Amino acid sequence: MHILLMGPPGAGKGTQAANIVKEFEIPHISTGDMFRAAIKEGTELGKKAKACMDAGNLVPDEITVGIVRERLAKDDCKRGFILDGFPRTVDQADALTKILKEVGIELKCALNVNVPAADLVERAVGRRICKFCGATYHVKFNPSKKDGVCDMCGGELFQRADDTEETMKNRLSVYESSTRPLIEYYKNAGLYVEVDGRQEINKVYEDIVELLNK
Ligand code: AP5
Ligand code: MG
Ligand code: ZN
Repeated sequence: MHILLMGPPGAGKGTQAANIVKEFEIPHISTGDMFRAAIKEGTELGKKAKACMDAGNLVPDEITVGIVRERLAKDDCKRGFILDGFPRTVDQADALTKILKEVGIELKCALNVNVPAADLVERAVGRRICKFCGATYHVKFNPSKKDGVCDMCGGELFQRADDTEETMKNRLSVYESSTRPLIEYYKNAGLYVEVDGRQEINKVYEDIVELLNK
């Protein structure tokens, strides 16, 4: 099952992807996570991505498309994948259409997690992530049992550098101008489906499973 997971910054893509990959046993491919891993390792890719990400701007298409092309060529993508945060521009979507043709993969759907802009800053600013296992929490909507400590592994929780109110404003405006047009793009391709991301995390997930099992 090959799925695109779309939605504005902070909508809950990563949260939902974590559940989907467990249930459907497919790899979670998040370009944001790939860039953050490269920054941590101090690679050339990481150096190029860091300034863009810290400012809440997009990493240039040629870099992003390159890492996705490499990743999608791996064997574990044959059975399925969940692509989170890619594509984010019409040019990336065109590139993806071409890559998928080359590797002979057909998308099941482009699934949008729909959340109004008014809710997104609070979601991002309150997000906490485990340094060790990557589990995602929210100080208000999905708190860990012990403040600052991961329920799963006891790891320390941290805040992403781009999860500030100010950077979120730019991420949301970049979303509106560059990424929102993809809703129309995938409607035209006959692949678009959406869930109401304002609901509780578990309810959003139930709706997703219902859509994916259709
Ligand atoms: P990326 O890491 O993809 O960030 P994003 O798209 O901004 O999305 P987020 O990860 O912030 O949000 P999410 O939807 O995953 O939400 P989450 O589940 O964590 O990209 C980061 C940067 O990398 C970009 O700005 C760009 O610079 C670069 N980049 C990445 N891909 C790129 C590309 N293709 N092209 C160019 N550049 C690219 O949830 C958020 C919070 O809300 C959590 O605290 C969670 O607990 C909580 N929450 C989740 N669901 C709910 C719910 N239903 N109710 C209440 N709270 C909820
Ligand atoms: Mg994410
Ligand atoms: Zn953890």
